Amino acid sequence: MTVGLLEDFHDFEPVQDDFLAAVLSGLTAPQKSLPSKFFYDERGSKLFDQICDLEEYYPTRIELDLLQNHSEEIARYVGSNSHLIEFGSGSSVKIRTLLKAMTDPLSYVPMDISREHLLEAATQLASSFPELPVIAICADYTSGFSFPDLGQGKRTGFFPGSTIGNFLPGDAEKFLAGAKDILQGGGMLIGVDLIKNEETLFAAYNDSKGITAEFNLNLLNRCNSELGANFNTQYFKHSAFYNSPESRIEMHLISLRDQIVSIAGHSIGFSDGESIHTENSCKYSVSGFQSLASRAGFNPTKVWVDPENLFSIHYLEA
Ligand SMILES: C[S@@+](CC[C@H](N)C(=O)[O-])C[C@H]1O[C@@H](n2cnc3c(N)ncnc32)[C@H](O)[C@@H]1O
Repeated sequence: MTVGLLEDFHDFEPVQDDFLAAVLSGLTAPQKSLPSKFFYDERGSKLFDQICDLEEYYPTRIELDLLQNHSEEIARYVGSNSHLIEFGSGSSVKIRTLLKAMTDPLSYVPMDISREHLLEAATQLASSFPELPVIAICADYTSGFSFPDLGQGKRTGFFPGSTIGNFLPGDAEKFLAGAKDILQGGGMLIGVDLIKNEETLFAAYNDSKGITAEFNLNLLNRCNSELGANFNTQYFKHSAFYNSPESRIEMHLISLRDQIVSIAGHSIGFSDGESIHTENSCKYSVSGFQSLASRAGFNPTKVWVDPENLFSIHYLEA
């Protein structure tokens, strides 16, 4: 389906039944949890953009610097005449640096679960690069969906934002192994957040303006608006901390009282202080991530790291 300036739009947006099933299964487990992919409705995607602009949220700033400072070398690894497929493309900001440095990219394929945000970002990108075919895909990249035929040419994956960190390491390995099918022998450029001092990590997920808290609590608003739940967000609070043994930031929503919430006819009890685990953001050493990528069947050929060792971008060859 052609939409406005887009060459093509493939819509595999997850349906509400999937959301309800995930919410009920997550909230009836002994440790309550909700999958982080559901943060990203239209409001969640906008809040994430605001997080990216925060002083404390170093990953976006550093990754953009790395892309800008090494754009020509990165473009050489990607090669000319390549289809660029972005996993979790969000506002499609970082790809612009790469597209400017590349010669003759064949197409740009932004893929995201957040439908309206994807369409807006992809249309804006298409108007900035009028010669470039932009083929948008709304899909959950962890689910099976039929990837469109892009025609001939190398395919390169782009997975910035350390979104790979939202998978536990075993799942990240499986995800990368699966992405190889889409890439058909092409490489993957992937941003990975590094293990660092706890203060910097804590501040990045506990910003002083409270945007990350709003982003986290928006998940409950989404349950209310889409599933007819009756969460009172004033009775939950944001919590994020570094789980050092597991090298990951964990985000939770903590119930501030004993309460019962109704969701699509189901009553879910919360005790005072009980948590809903909403996100993991796993951090890696460079060598730790390279080993994981190797286990997934990639050859980690090149890595770019900033001088303070905060963030890394890896080029993985299939
Ligand atoms: C951390 S943000 C990164 C956005 C952007 N790539 C960047 O680097 O700024 C994660 C993005 O991945 C998308 N996303 C998360 N889980 C997804 C899934 N399972 N399938 C497709 N997109 C997903 C979100 O909607 C969001 O745009």
